[in-house]
Amino acid sequence: MSSAGPAEPADNTRALFPTLIYDAALGARGVKALNRELVAEAEQIAAADEAGQDWSESRYPGGYTSYATLDQLQRMAPTVQHLARHLTRHALHYAEALHWDLQGRSLVMSDCWVSIMGQGCGHPGHLHPLAVVSGTYYAQAPKGTSGLRFEDPRLASFMAAPPRAADAPDALRPHVLLPARAGRLYLFESWLRHEVPPNPVKEERVSFSFNFVWE
Ligand code: NI
Repeated sequence: MSSAGPAEPADNTRALFPTLIYDAALGARGVKALNRELVAEAEQIAAADEAGQDWSESRYPGGYTSYATLDQLQRMAPTVQHLARHLTRHALHYAEALHWDLQGRSLVMSDCWVSIMGQGCGHPGHLHPLAVVSGTYYAQAPKGTSGLRFEDPRLASFMAAPPRAADAPDALRPHVLLPARAGRLYLFESWLRHEVPPNPVKEERVSFSFNFVWE
């Protein structure tokens, strides 16, 4: 019997045009204390933002987001400003992983908003127009809370293709759900469609979402 059987099918393929998701710990000193300050700041922002409370009541049931009212937190909230410096460092690492040639320009955070999700609060599929890199940082992620679900950007192009097997690896699945974890962040290219399934637990999940532009 020959030990050299036919090659595994994967050995005869190569992956092109990958979609890179950046997944890292913030890496700041005293991240637990920073997260406590961020959560406290988030609660102050939510309590003071009556227009945002009204907006969230109809558009963000079960939660509060400053998305429609205070979307420049990196300029007005001191702890978020501190967070934004770390996030910018990560965004530049991500740009390196993508082999982007920034041509003497940089990645600049254009907006940053906070989301406090209570039980049942979710955010349906969307992308982030006008930005190049988007992401989320988790300041508070209770056990069992919902993560971030990404959709294969080529989904609309598959037409007659068979579905993927249930045991396909993450990189070949049409949807991938990554967990929310306090002190960690995800970055992705802004055209990548994503959603947050409804938070199934009672405890609130507190996250900061943001966009970077190339300028
Ligand atoms: Ni988003």
